[in-house]
Amino acid sequence: MKWGSSDKKRFTRGDIPDLSGRTAIVTGGTKGIGYQTVRALALAHARVLILARSTELGNKAVAEIKREAPTADVVFIQCDLGDLAAVKQVGDKICKDEARLDIFIANAAIGLLPFGLTKDGIDRHFAVNHLGHYLLINRLLPLLRHTAQLSSPPAAGPRIVTLTSDVHRSAPASTTFSSPAEVTTNGGYGAMGYYARSKLAVVLFAKYGLAKRVFGAHGDRISVVTLHPGIVHTDQLDQLKDAYGWLLGTLLKLLTLPFAQSPAQGCLSTVWAATSADVEQNGWSGKYFMSVGEVAEPSKLAQDPKLGDNLWELSEQLVKEKLGPDGLLPWDVSSD
Ligand SMILES: NC(=O)c1ccc[n+]([C@@H]2O[C@H](COP(=O)([O-])OP(=O)(O)OC[C@H]3O[C@@H](n4cnc5c(N)ncnc54)[C@H](OP(=O)(O)O)[C@@H]3O)[C@@H](O)[C@H]2O)c1
Repeated sequence: MKWGSSDKKRFTRGDIPDLSGRTAIVTGGTKGIGYQTVRALALAHARVLILARSTELGNKAVAEIKREAPTADVVFIQCDLGDLAAVKQVGDKICKDEARLDIFIANAAIGLLPFGLTKDGIDRHFAVNHLGHYLLINRLLPLLRHTAQLSSPPAAGPRIVTLTSDVHRSAPASTTFSSPAEVTTNGGYGAMGYYARSKLAVVLFAKYGLAKRVFGAHGDRISVVTLHPGIVHTDQLDQLKDAYGWLLGTLLKLLTLPFAQSPAQGCLSTVWAATSADVEQNGWSGKYFMSVGEVAEPSKLAQDPKLGDNLWELSEQLVKEKLGPDGLLPWDVSSD
């Protein structure tokens, strides 16, 4: 199959194009959907960098893929997305060391866990699921822009895929993203509220931040897609017990299981979004997907440009407060 052409809706493992010569990053690629995404991209001959916290899980993921395909080019890089200084360091090192970056998949997330703060003093859901990826993409911009200028292998603009969840619809109605206090103090929302709010931020960042403000405004040939992967049987379902207690959590997990896909099935919409030519051809940058090839409508809050602007300003303020004025690269930074 040629690079990127896909049969909508019935995207299978066999539809994954040959990715020889391309480089991908998958955050949270050590288990669940992320691991299967790494595996699919690596078996299609991409070089894949996995970013996650646990070195033990990272080494295990690399070893398993190499056992299946000894020539697979998979590398683990330890990175806690909840630690802004570490994210900056890792992003800058990748920019220096790698020759190109064709695919960036923001997959890592904290699921339905209770409220907690990162070492930077930020709500851990917001910090890991949104802010760490916001900063990482910023630091990787020179490499993404450099790749967009390359003509070999045959042209395909770099692609960013961010994993949200349809539960972004359950974000607290009071969400405004208008002050740091909103994401640095416990607002008493419960695990679902924090998770949903962070996933709302993921949709807003893709649509109003990256697609419009950054790539759209600067005419970059880089597209971004945000998607809900469906219900997938991963460790995230076990987090229901942390959120709701053993009894209710186990019950909720058992009720959810019959509808859950395996991680190997659950990664396919992500792989489609990362490799399909449909995204560029149809001008789908910034769009939200719940299934392959079908644009979906996100929540009302996710379509509020003012909320998008607030999130943008808040993210910038938080990163600069923690890392100083050089924490962020100018969003129009060039690849030279
Ligand atoms: N499973 C579902 O039904 C479902 C439904 C809707 C949306 N999603 C979304 O799909 C994505 C993948 O979910 P999943 O179910 O596959 O999750 P998972 O099995 O829990 O895996 C999460 C991954 O993220 C990494 N991670 C967690 N915290 C991190 C941090 N601070 N820094 C760096 N990496 C971190 C984990 O590795 P370490 O712990 O070693 O860091 C792990 O590799 C997430 O964005 C999730 O919200 C999943």
